[in-house]
Amino acid sequence: MIRLDQVSFSYINEQVSRSAVHDLSFTLEAGQLVALLGANGSGKSTLARLIKGRLLPGKGNVVVDGLNTRDKIQRSQVQNLVGLVGPVPDHQFISNLVADDVAFGPQNLGLERAEINRRVDAALKMVSMEDYAQYPPYLLSGGQKQRVCLAGILAMQFRYLILDEATSMLDPEGRGQVMQVLARLRQESNLGILLITQNLDEAQMADRVDIMQQGKIVANFCFRELAASPHLLRQYNLEEPPLFHLASVLKSQGLLPHDWYPDSLDQVVKALC
Ligand SMILES: Nc1ncnc2c1ncn2[C@@H]1O[C@H](COP(=O)(O)OP(=O)(O)OP(=O)(O)O)[C@@H](O)[C@H]1O
Ligand SMILES: [Mg+2]
Repeated sequence: MIRLDQVSFSYINEQVSRSAVHDLSFTLEAGQLVALLGANGSGKSTLARLIKGRLLPGKGNVVVDGLNTRDKIQRSQVQNLVGLVGPVPDHQFISNLVADDVAFGPQNLGLERAEINRRVDAALKMVSMEDYAQYPPYLLSGGQKQRVCLAGILAMQFRYLILDEATSMLDPEGRGQVMQVLARLRQESNLGILLITQNLDEAQMADRVDIMQQGKIVANFCFRELAASPHLLRQYNLEEPPLFHLASVLKSQGLLPHDWYPDSLDQVVKALC
């Protein structure tokens, strides 16, 4: 379990001192998928870096499976438990071939060649980049680079995965694929996933949706509660998911019952028929 207890963090450097996370408490259990939404600058990426142990809390503790990031040795163990994929591939490709790049992490774990190859193949397939295994990474498009980064993280088989707007450069099909990968990972593994996104639509399969404002988690909801409430959507400045918009239009025409909520487009079609 990932646990943050009343954590505060400020960036302090020559130019600025800025409080980015303030008195924040948060939990994520293995097997859970939590979506985190919030305005620009609300502290989401800072929270991700605190969990990964790249930043240390000024106050409070970040504890992952009993390991406290304040302790140097425990912090390096936490870094082996938590995978973090960011919004733009900041990752410096270290190999001349995509497959070698994805293999780099598992190699550092000291795994056998056959196991490394198996993981690389599976990870590239998951992000639909298997045709690019023998391609130089620097020739890829931004979205393709993002997929390869994701494959590198998947091949590590971390216990927790943080996706910090990791689909921002993907086309709609690519986003859909990543969502399918997450759905599969949830079914087939006991991974804990933190999905940081600006898009409420992507939070559909989350067990919980947390809202962050000015360095704090100010509320949490189940997806349906939030997506179906025009009041909450307005309050937190969120866009109504297209499926819920369609359902509310059909409800206003008397074509669907008011207390009915869709899970998929197929379901709407069936309900109409
Ligand atoms: N390296 C840094 N040095 C100083 N201040 C920073 C640094 N990184 C972030 N901040 C500040 O900390 C606050 C939180 O930033 P953070 O990147 O965590 O927000 P965010 O919710 O991820 O935003 P976005 O949606 O734009 O990605 C912001 O006020 C930001 O200006
Ligand atoms: Mg961010």
